[in-house]
Amino acid sequence: MLENAASSTLMQAAQALRSGGLVAFPTETVYGLGADASQPDAVERVFRIKGRPFQDPLIVHCASMQQTFNYISESATDWQRSVHQALGQRFWPGPLTLVLPAHESRIAEAVTGRTGWVGLRCPNHPIALAFLEFCDRPVAAPSANLFGHVSPTTAKHVFDDFPHVDNLWIVDGGACGFGIESTVVRINATSTLEVLRPGGVGRAEIVQCLVEAGLFKDSEAGFRQVLLKERFVKESVAMPALDAPGQLLVHYAPRIDCQMVSWVDGTEQTSPSELVSSEHLKKTVLIDFEGRFSLISARAGAYCDLSRAGSSLEAAQNLFAKLRWAENFATTDLEQWRIWIADPKQFDDMQTNEIFLALSDRIFRSASGRRIKICITPDSGQVFASIHSQ
Ligand code: TXA
Ligand code: MG
Repeated sequence: MLENAASSTLMQAAQALRSGGLVAFPTETVYGLGADASQPDAVERVFRIKGRPFQDPLIVHCASMQQTFNYISESATDWQRSVHQALGQRFWPGPLTLVLPAHESRIAEAVTGRTGWVGLRCPNHPIALAFLEFCDRPVAAPSANLFGHVSPTTAKHVFDDFPHVDNLWIVDGGACGFGIESTVVRINATSTLEVLRPGGVGRAEIVQCLVEAGLFKDSEAGFRQVLLKERFVKESVAMPALDAPGQLLVHYAPRIDCQMVSWVDGTEQTSPSELVSSEHLKKTVLIDFEGRFSLISARAGAYCDLSRAGSSLEAAQNLFAKLRWAENFATTDLEQWRIWIADPKQFDDMQTNEIFLALSDRIFRSASGRRIKICITPDSGQVFASIHSQ
């Protein structure tokens, strides 16, 4: 059921959640699939309908920073508490998830994936905040998509992934403003932080905030204390030893083949390349950035640009919707279609822009890390492609 997000509707949706139901709701990043985090059956249903492995923990959404204090273990150190407070005050409500030792008796154990840690976030979206307030309890919510599929940035995307699920509320709040998921940061007891997933809040901002709060000595020391979790590069959904949940490479994947593509000058071409036939191009959806591939746009099956102006914010807002748009070109002949998406690596001047880096992470995962290079012969205009390893 799709509903407009009037207050009375939100109250009913909150009531449905309190009675053990599931409610998808908008946030500034992506839509979440919410359940009462204190009800094990409701939480289990979230995992089941998503097809999500049980060891991958869910973020607990709260209406205020005050509420988040309830879910932190008494064993958390002073440093962990101070960092929580400093970052929460600066960035909440906003696209930042803080992972802290969990108060395990206040949330179902499936929420933490039995890790002993809980991810906490206050989303910056008026509907989400009103809804969470009406719920008046912790709301566990992963992104509202089938496991491994592209995250949803509209209510329609949620509906498309769960058309047959009974008693699922979907609160329609329009398109999400930011468009990619929150930065996930674990606050370790050892006075270090780990960025488990890059997002809207960058590492430099985090370091600066903690230096200002006197929790890191100086920026340089701070940068050493905020570690970046490396991308998990196994192309597999087998989950057993998942030390950094959410780091699976096959994540955000569209239903058709997707590869990152970069443009090379004919003279730079070193590896063996193959001619790309015009039939092949006609079944290729090209997702561009900054008009890099506009020369061949008319020959592709479909073409769009994440941001013609080269804005990483605009591109982040568009990415998931464009991936879903692209996969819909293939109706029956899925295996014949493919997506070529501009390889973020080729944009040298963007490599220090933290929003762009978060965007690059999602593009990398959508393509399961696969890259090709293409070149066009200047005389005949033919397109050649070669597989490009990392
Ligand atoms: O922006 C967002 O974060 C969205 C909106 C709905 O809030 N939520 C979202 O949830 O993206 P999900 O479940 O799709 O991704 C959450 C990520 C996962 O990679 C999960 O492994 C990680 O956060 N995470 C959550 N709780 C954790 C914990 N206790 N320890 C380590 N990682 C955790
Ligand atoms: Mg997700």
